[in-house]
Amino acid sequence: MDIETFAVEQWMSSHEMTARWNVAETCVDSLTFDELLELGGEGERVLEELRGQKLTYGYIYGRPRLRELVAATYAHGDPDLVLTMNGAIGANFLALYTLVEPGDTVICVTPTYQQLHSVPASFGARVKLLPLRPENGFVPDPGELESLVDERTRLIVLNNPNNPTGALISGDLLEQIVDVARQADAWLLADEVYRGLEHEPGGTTPSVLDLYDKGVSTGSMSKVYSLAGLRLGWVSGRADFIAAAAARRDHTTISCGLLDELLGTLALENAARLLERNLGIVRANARRLAAWVAGEPRLDYVPPRAGTTAFVHYDHPMGSEELAQRMFDRDGTFVVPGAAFGMEGWVRIGFACAPEVLERGLAGVSACLREVEAAAPQS
Ligand SMILES: Cc1ncc(COP(=O)(O)O)c(C=O)c1O
Repeated sequence: MDIETFAVEQWMSSHEMTARWNVAETCVDSLTFDELLELGGEGERVLEELRGQKLTYGYIYGRPRLRELVAATYAHGDPDLVLTMNGAIGANFLALYTLVEPGDTVICVTPTYQQLHSVPASFGARVKLLPLRPENGFVPDPGELESLVDERTRLIVLNNPNNPTGALISGDLLEQIVDVARQADAWLLADEVYRGLEHEPGGTTPSVLDLYDKGVSTGSMSKVYSLAGLRLGWVSGRADFIAAAAARRDHTTISCGLLDELLGTLALENAARLLERNLGIVRANARRLAAWVAGEPRLDYVPPRAGTTAFVHYDHPMGSEELAQRMFDRDGTFVVPGAAFGMEGWVRIGFACAPEVLERGLAGVSACLREVEAAAPQS
């Protein structure tokens, strides 16, 4: 079985540990272990509980209270319809492993998290990419989606809110996409790992799971809850899907880490506090980013509506990988080249970091652009 290399993950892993101003990261500024323990104001008690834990496999399909808390983020509210996994990356893999057969047609949006189309291709599916266009606010066009459907279409894949663009598919548009999926009798998988980080106060991201009986949703503790180090995520769907996924999960996972699930439960018990912190960070930083883009004559973007990333277009002929590497070499400013998402002339900026990192990172991008412009031959 052949698989394309995961361009973003390779770029991240080869640079992130030595980056100085990391504006490539997609998590909201991560919590320390201490901050997590203190979330509920009972750090000592939680620590005692952790100390006394026998390190067994734990609950095979996920800690019951954790499954309950995750289930409460969907209309179904049913813990039996949730399986924990090792991050959204594990949850996506399990969903794809469960749903995709060789010869199936899988339609997936692009740009997006590459796993969502490279994995089905590696399983022998015919993958058709549905382009998300800036002139369309980077949301899918249902008519174009419909034109890609064929008699073998088994699965449509979305990422809502979207990485890298920060676009948010509204409830109305999602209903239209569901109609296309229903007509095709296709499953609809949405990676909803940024759901809950809407920038407009009161804005919400509808889940495909709440709109369609063949909807499957994935999520995790990494981005919205700032706890990527727990490596904890989940998948949710209807009962027959969950049974089929559990049968596959027995072969790949057994269970998630018992301590991870305990800590994830603690975080979700205190989700309101954590979300208040994190929405404060993304909303304030999205404003900083907007002000910066407005002051840069060679940059433009579709302002992100949710999540932690923005896809920024630059008006210069230099390739995005060369430009991003120059930024990195210059002063450790770390962005992701658009080439890693198959789009040249763009860079992804992750803006949910600490404000001073964002300020320094954006200043690094500006300074590098000035140098590149000054060195370019005048026309
Ligand atoms: C859209 C999307 N899905 C899934 C993941 C994987 O996240 P994790 O496995 O940490 O939950 C990422 C990480 O960047 C992502 O951006």
